[in-house]
Amino acid sequence: MSSNLRIACVMVGLPARGKTYISQKVCRYLTWLGIKTKVFNVGNYRRKLHGASLPHTFFDPHNSIGEQQRREAAAAALQDMIEWFSNDQGIVAIYDATNSTKKRRRWLYEKLSKHDIQVLFIESICQDEALILANIKEVKLSSPDYANTDPDEAAVDFIARIDHYKEQYETITEKDLTFIKLINVGSQNIINMIQGYLESRIVYYLMNLHIAPRKIYFSRHGESQYNLEGKIGGDSSLSERGLLYATKLPELIQNLGTQDLVIWTSTLKRTVETSQYLDYPKLQWKALDELDAGVCDGMTYEEIEQKYPEDFANRDEDKFNYRYRGGESYRDVVLRLEPIIMELERHENILIIGHQAILRCIYAYFMNYNHEDLPYIKIPLHTVIELTPKAYGCEEKRYKVDIDAVDTHRPKLKKSPSVRKLSKINLGASGEIVREPMSPIIPISPNLFPRTSSNPSTIDLSEPALGSLE
Ligand code: F6P
Repeated sequence: MSSNLRIACVMVGLPARGKTYISQKVCRYLTWLGIKTKVFNVGNYRRKLHGASLPHTFFDPHNSIGEQQRREAAAAALQDMIEWFSNDQGIVAIYDATNSTKKRRRWLYEKLSKHDIQVLFIESICQDEALILANIKEVKLSSPDYANTDPDEAAVDFIARIDHYKEQYETITEKDLTFIKLINVGSQNIINMIQGYLESRIVYYLMNLHIAPRKIYFSRHGESQYNLEGKIGGDSSLSERGLLYATKLPELIQNLGTQDLVIWTSTLKRTVETSQYLDYPKLQWKALDELDAGVCDGMTYEEIEQKYPEDFANRDEDKFNYRYRGGESYRDVVLRLEPIIMELERHENILIIGHQAILRCIYAYFMNYNHEDLPYIKIPLHTVIELTPKAYGCEEKRYKVDIDAVDTHRPKLKKSPSVRKLSKINLGASGEIVREPMSPIIPISPNLFPRTSSNPSTIDLSEPALGSLE
């Protein structure tokens, strides 16, 4: 469905309140759902225009030169963002800055509304001093602003910078604006004037997000009988080696030292058997069952190539959008996994014992893979993958257990135009490529409710307001 919907998520909040983390998470989530999204970080524009390593006095609201230069950075980011919407057909942009005065927010709202862009303000409020300090240490001190600065000096400077922002910070109270306030990492949320499906989706996602540190582990089931025979799908039990992996898993997991782990499996025998010796709370999810290969279930790739040569070629042509006859595509699986992602964001330490295609989709969400590369991600058997979410992405470690297993990864093939039969329209057909790449996976309704300003006459549109805080 074509859509003229354009949403700007405008971040609001003092420095070190997790705004960049939230911006990146929303961006990755929407991109994973095929919605064209981009973050515009005003701090990056400020560094590009005026250099990094500026002392806290640059951010003092009484420093008129600093004030002027920060306004320039804010305007340049806004300009690029508006151009990106029209030139690149962007759907959601995230304007990552403090935007902490009413005047600044009004200016942004008016500029964006003029271009028929919906504005959703996302304010992050955090009163937990320990969390703020942890954020300063983990993210801010390694930022280009403090390259080659002694960490203690950098911390003192950054806290002074926050104090300058505090001088003029105004929390959102503007009733005519659309906003969500996230207070103390999801302990309280306030929402106002949310309209339309996509805005509600973003808000729902934000309400599930928590920023407490945690680990996410993935493991495929141990090698199965079908893996040994080169067959796909089915519901076979573990092979001898697969069972051995299941017996070794408790020791490996225990050595990782993560407390309060919860285990999720699919409903299929091979994942349940793999989890059997692990002494943690367990949950089975139907939504975690392997990609449904339809009529090809139980066949080897060679058999599929012989029996359905066109389908086989179509899958190599566009593996993400190819849907098996009577089965699923990776695109279908992403949609099916969306509630899992939401649930994953709500919980703390989790180990998912899953399947090749399923873990590729979930891994791609955390590691920001595009749809073209997603179906080729390597998730080998007998390996535990550990992800630790950080501000700009996830840190990854892989633990390989020393038990042989077959390799089920089929590399991306060179295209063979001779047997291509492409259907790029959304017929809901099977054995074909269904949907254009990069079309959204969730429905996006057209922009039916463009906003109007409540009081435009009081607003100066000529230049950014005073009190710019980047
Ligand atoms: O081969 C194991 C398996 O989990 C199959 O059951 C499934 O069809 C396949 O992997 C998915 O991988 P691909 O998309 O690369 O065929």
